Amino acid sequence: MCGIVGYTGTRTAAPVVLEGLKRLEYRGYDSAGLAVVNGGLEVFRAPGKIAILERELGSDLPEGTTAIAHTRWATHGAPTTANAHPHADCGGTLALVHNGIIENAGVLRQALTKRGHVFRSQTDTEVLSHLIEENHTKGMPLVDATAEALRGSPLLVAIGNGENFVASDASAVLAHTRSVVYLDDGDIAEVKPTDYRIMDLDAGEKETPVTHVEWDLATIERGGYAHFMLKEIMEQPESVRNTLRGRLLEEEGTVRFGGLNISADELLKVQRIVITACGTSWHSALIGEYMMEELARIPTEVEYASEFRYRNPIVDERTLVIGISQSGETADTLAALREAKRRGARTLGLVNVVGSSIAREVDGGIYLHAGPEIGVASTKAFTSQIVALALLTLKMGRLRALSILQGREVVRALAKLPELVARVLTKAAEVEQIAERLVRAQNVLYLGRGYNFPVALEGALKLKEISYIHAEGYPAAEMKHGPIALIDDLMPVVFIAPKDGVHQKVLSNIEEVKARGGRVIAIVTEGDTALDKLADHRIEIPETLDLLTPVLSVVPLQLLAYYIAVRRGCNVDQPRNLAKSVTVE
Ligand code: AGP
Repeated sequence: MCGIVGYTGTRTAAPVVLEGLKRLEYRGYDSAGLAVVNGGLEVFRAPGKIAILERELGSDLPEGTTAIAHTRWATHGAPTTANAHPHADCGGTLALVHNGIIENAGVLRQALTKRGHVFRSQTDTEVLSHLIEENHTKGMPLVDATAEALRGSPLLVAIGNGENFVASDASAVLAHTRSVVYLDDGDIAEVKPTDYRIMDLDAGEKETPVTHVEWDLATIERGGYAHFMLKEIMEQPESVRNTLRGRLLEEEGTVRFGGLNISADELLKVQRIVITACGTSWHSALIGEYMMEELARIPTEVEYASEFRYRNPIVDERTLVIGISQSGETADTLAALREAKRRGARTLGLVNVVGSSIAREVDGGIYLHAGPEIGVASTKAFTSQIVALALLTLKMGRLRALSILQGREVVRALAKLPELVARVLTKAAEVEQIAERLVRAQNVLYLGRGYNFPVALEGALKLKEISYIHAEGYPAAEMKHGPIALIDDLMPVVFIAPKDGVHQKVLSNIEEVKARGGRVIAIVTEGDTALDKLADHRIEIPETLDLLTPVLSVVPLQLLAYYIAVRRGCNVDQPRNLAKSVTVE
């Protein structure tokens, strides 16, 4: 999932696009490049981070007031200079940057090579430069030549004053404008310094609304924190508060949503829910499944989006398919929702990025309002996803058998969450000390039950993706059926053991680990002394309703992964091989 930014206007374009590109680096950091129109076309590329490209460019940046730039997440071809974008055509008069994959690149490449085109890279993207070149040299205007060559991936046009931009997302242009036009799949845009037009590949020219981006530059800065991930962990009291804002109706013991766009009658007709997502969002979906079945009594399943879309799923008009995605751009989740729609299901999106593809694709949606999440490892979006799922569960439950008293109890507990999260964050120093002891661990096991089984999965994912330590999350009772063989005094075991309905069961699982010499780190409820003798390290979290404990219990696990990764010298915000939103299959 690469990052793209382009500029055409009156200013020297190179510094403008390089600045924008740096704000997109979380989308991929395998190589970077830019092309500038300066009389002719000048192309500059380098492997690795944008800083390497900048070093090679030096202070004497190329002139020219039109430029495109690209930061890459490698799919086809190793992260080398030859495979870095932009890719030029044979004549060197056309430069192209691309985000996505071209599934039929192989056959196109063979055909183009037979017709005399010379390829300089192993990328799928380069076929596009030669295809457009072929149409263009036949006399087709560039826009038509491009349209002819195309026949998915996010892109927006940003409107400036006497200048215009293109970008993969708004963070690249916020320093210049907050007026953007989101392109739909199959759209093509022609952008000039003082004008732009949007065309649908089949239907031709079209009017597309200009959206005003709420976020400003400050929200996408690190704000004095060492890393975006730490900033986003520490922002959770506020992000949870924003997810709740204006939605709680204590008197009625229910909630209201602005953009749900599905009526109460339609929600009542829902006989089955399928929640689909990827990665961390899939973990929040598991918690949503437990909530929906416990409080709303609606049969609910969770599906990996990448599996759901290809396995001929059983969904129909009585099925509500919920897609959860922080970025709103994850290709598998978007495709799973499209497949569900094609089969007649109603679709709902739980999304953080306003105006994203999933937000525009679904029938109705709930925005998380967690604010921009720049760190590749998702943190505040996860806690906001759980809160949004609790809100939706309350809505569905109150439309069914959940009593007004039960509803009020959940509303009151939700309203307290921001201050409770803030209380957990005061334990950061304690967590940092525990992290100190785990820095050299080779493997870590995370165990939890009920609502906190998915938190065990999430804790393990956080550690894996930013510290590169192998970790596994498991339902605590499942440990006896295999993973217990891994337990010895070298294997740290993190237990999520709040005082909930399965607390006693978790205590016996901890006993089983201690009996084999395992080192236990336990997340416990404040004042719970049951683990004083059993756990080697305890981190306390405040009490709340069982279904909401994950919002509190995951925070120490986010911090634990963060401090371990920092001590191991890992690039916490841009972990190797990862990118913030996965826009290819
Ligand atoms: C989580 O830390 C990862 N960045 C990744 O697993 C992520 O959750 C997944 O790619 C889904 O992203 P989305 O929520 O933007 O769809």
